[in-house]
Order: sequence, then C-alpha cells, then structure tokens
Amino acid sequence: MLKKITLLLMGLGLGIVHFAWAAGDPEKGKTFYAVCVACHGQDGAGNKALNAPRIAGQEIWYIERQLKNYKSGIRGANNKDIYGMQMRPMSMTLPNDEAIANVSAYVNSLKAKPPVATIQGDVGAGKAAYMICQTCHGAKGEGNKALNAPKLIGQQDWYMVRQLKGFKDGLRGTHPKDVYGMQMRPMSMTLTDDKAINNVVSYIVTFK
Ligand code: HEC
Ligand code: HEC
Repeated sequence: MLKKITLLLMGLGLGIVHFAWAAGDPEKGKTFYAVCVACHGQDGAGNKALNAPRIAGQEIWYIERQLKNYKSGIRGANNKDIYGMQMRPMSMTLPNDEAIANVSAYVNSLKAKPPVATIQGDVGAGKAAYMICQTCHGAKGEGNKALNAPKLIGQQDWYMVRQLKGFKDGLRGTHPKDVYGMQMRPMSMTLTDDKAINNVVSYIVTFK
C-alpha cells in the first residue's frame, strides 16, 4: 500500500515538473534572450538591416517548434539558406527543451510597435490570393494552432516575402522531417511570381 502511494506521489511530482516545463517561465527565459537582443531587438521588433524578423507576441508553440527545427537542422541547414544559417547557431545557445520553452514564453510576452511597410503591391489582388491562405492562417492572419499555422499579424513584409520565396525555392519546407513546412510549401506555389507574392503580403500587412 505504502509503496503504491509513494509511486503515485512520485508520478504526481513528475507530472508537476513536466507541467512547469511545458508552460515555460518567461522570467527564466529573459536570461537566454540576452543573446537574441543583438538581432531581434530588446522588444522583439526585429531588424531589417540584420535580416531578423519580428518575433514579439508570436505564439509560444510556433516559436518553440522553429527553435527546435533550427537546432536539429530541419530549418537553416541548407547552405543556400543564408539567413536561416545565421539563426541556427543562435538556437544552439539554448541548451535544452526547458530553455526553449522559457525563452519562447518570454518572446511571446514581448510587445513591439507594428512594423513599417517596405514593399508595394496590389492589395486587392492580394486579398483574392489570400482566400486560400485563410483556411489555415485565419481570415485576419491570427494563426491556428490546430492547423499548425503561425500568426502573421505584425510580421514584417520583407521577411514574409523572403519566406514565401524560400518555400517556393525549397530552402524551407523540404527537409524530410519538416512536416509543417511541407504543408506550407505547396501553398507558396499558388503565388505564381514575385508580383503575386508582393500582392498577398501587402494585403497581410493590413491585418491589425
Ligand atoms: C545573428 C542574429 C540573430 C540572433 C543573435 C538571433 N537570431 Fe533569431 N533569427 C535571425 C534571422 C536572420 C532569422 C531569419 C532566418 C530565416 O530566414 O529563416 C531569425 C529567425 C528566428 C525565428 C523564426 C521566426 C519565424 O517567424 O519563423 C525565431 C523564433 C528566432 N529567430 C528566435 C531567436 C531567439 C530566441 C534568439 C536567441 C536565443 C535568436 N533568435 C537570436 C537572426 C538572429
Ligand atoms: C494548409 C495550411 C496552410 C495554408 C493554406 C497556408 N499556410 Fe502558410 N503556413 C502553414 C504552416 C503549417 C506554416 C508553418 C511552417 C513551419 O512550421 O515551418 C506556415 C508558414 C507560413 C509563413 C512563414 C511564417 C514565419 O513566421 O516564418 C508565411 C509567410 C505563410 N505561411 C504565408 C502563407 C500564405 C501567403 C498563404 C497563402 C498563399 C499560406 N501561408 C497558406 C500552413 C498553411
């Protein structure tokens, strides 16, 4: 009987530890974020000159997945992916899943000003092209955890343009273990040329 109770308590204890891990502690994550400031900024607003996207307020589950993908080489290991290759060593500064969960919670808590538009496109044509995108990313770019699609609100236009080209060119979404990138890649193919990419992105940046 006693043995059973001890086992039960141990189980509960592990359960609690596991829960604390899964949730991530933004305060603990702040320490790890010190490395990230140089490129993504104190407030996570990103930095065009350094090619670093805005990460402030992004969903925790998406940030965690990307950091794990960079670490394991699912993203940023293709030698044509020059920007992903800059981010990859940074993900290595996060020693384990707990650190990743904590820094992701911290990034999610950051608030940054909306980015300045840098590209021009036909918003009307972009809206029409976005019809297909909204099934996963939501009508207002709010994202959808159940479909693994990240939030697009507040993301920099130049970064989204680059990612869409990256998906199309196979720099992202082609690694055999990149289950979610592989779902996005065929969607990028619906944007037939650079103009179509600029159009859809110029529509996405209207989301608040
Ligand atoms: C040397 C500059 C640099 C540093 C330092 C850096 N990053 Fe990055 N980060 C980048 C670049 C460049 C990209 C875009 C890579 C790409 O195009 O795939 C990026 C992409 C990301 C992404 C993917 C965003 C998305 O929307 O998919 C996340 C998340 C991220 N960084 C988090 C971090 C965290 C957390 C740290 C600190 C541990 C960090 N970065 C440190 C340059 C940096
Ligand atoms: C079938 C669902 C689905 C559809 C439809 C879809 N996406 Fe995605 N998209 C995803 C998923 C899943 C990811 C995350 C991939 C990953 O984890 O690397 C993603 C990632 C992205 C990213 C990268 C975000 C970042 O922070 O790096 C952009 C930009 C994007 N999608 C834009 C679009 C556009 C524009 C369309 C319409 C042409 C579209 N998506 C249609 C599922 C979808």
